Amino acid sequence: MTAYTKKEVLLEARNIFLSYGNKCILHDINFNIRDIVRPGMLQGQVVSLVGRSGIGKTQLFRVLSGLQKPSSGQIMIRERKPTLSAAGTIEVNHERPVHAGDMGVIFQNYYQFEWRTVKQSLMLAARQNPALKGKEEDTILHYASQFDIPDILHHYPKQLSGGQQQRVSIIQQLLKGSDFLLLDEPFSGLDICVLDKVVELLLQVSLSDELKTLIIVSHDIATAVAISDTVFILGKKVGQEGSTIVREIDLIERGLAWQRAVRREKAFEDTLDEINACL
Ligand SMILES: Nc1ncnc2c1ncn2[C@@H]1O[C@H](COP(=O)(O)OP(=O)(O)O)[C@@H](O)[C@H]1O
Ligand SMILES: [Mg+2]
Repeated sequence: MTAYTKKEVLLEARNIFLSYGNKCILHDINFNIRDIVRPGMLQGQVVSLVGRSGIGKTQLFRVLSGLQKPSSGQIMIRERKPTLSAAGTIEVNHERPVHAGDMGVIFQNYYQFEWRTVKQSLMLAARQNPALKGKEEDTILHYASQFDIPDILHHYPKQLSGGQQQRVSIIQQLLKGSDFLLLDEPFSGLDICVLDKVVELLLQVSLSDELKTLIIVSHDIATAVAISDTVFILGKKVGQEGSTIVREIDLIERGLAWQRAVRREKAFEDTLDEINACL
């Protein structure tokens, strides 16, 4: 099996509860995401949160990203901060509660301001990232070519296909430079060729930085499992209102992470059956 270690906690969900009025949506959500380190590689994390429709995935997505305050509990994230020391500038990590805006968030309906061209929207995102100062334009051109959309930079959102809008949204969030990228149902509504391309791009993104962490919320279980190192299943416990994490599956231990041809493995089929039985 591939050598790896799991290091510091990058994100921790601590006892999350969410209710609207007296309707419980989420209860007792506890899990963490650790930094996975592989010798000689930049290996990010790809985590999927799966469950059937209406189970509360989007609600949990909103809580994780800091956009929705839970009724109780906390989402803690590890932050890298450049700090001045005697030895020069070093990166210090510390843990703090998530705030709205900390994570790159890609919603299901890739909303873009319709009066801005793709390039103008991307430029606004790039300017939010101090690390790109003076390199905004070059970085945009680099991503546009990597994501295969160099020709649409001067187009307006309504001139784009669904797949192009999604790629623009992903680039927009990557430009902001946050370690976490959250995607709600990134595989729905894409035709099969575009789907393969998106999977490939997300894998590339996850390999671009040691701490890059993708959290994919999806009801497309096969694609989610094929791309992830860890799967959390959101489901129901007998006799309890609302949803919680009913199982965590470590795909690395099963030899199902980081392989292109994973769908051909017997263990892959078994894992899908196991997940379906929990839904
Ligand atoms: N503002 C709200 N008030 C009451 N219930 C809500 C509200 N928003 C969402 N819900 C409920 O939360 C549940 C989970 O929805 P959602 O997270 O969108 O599911 P999923 O993304 O898994 O399909 C649904 O039953 C929905 O009706
Ligand atoms: Mg949803």
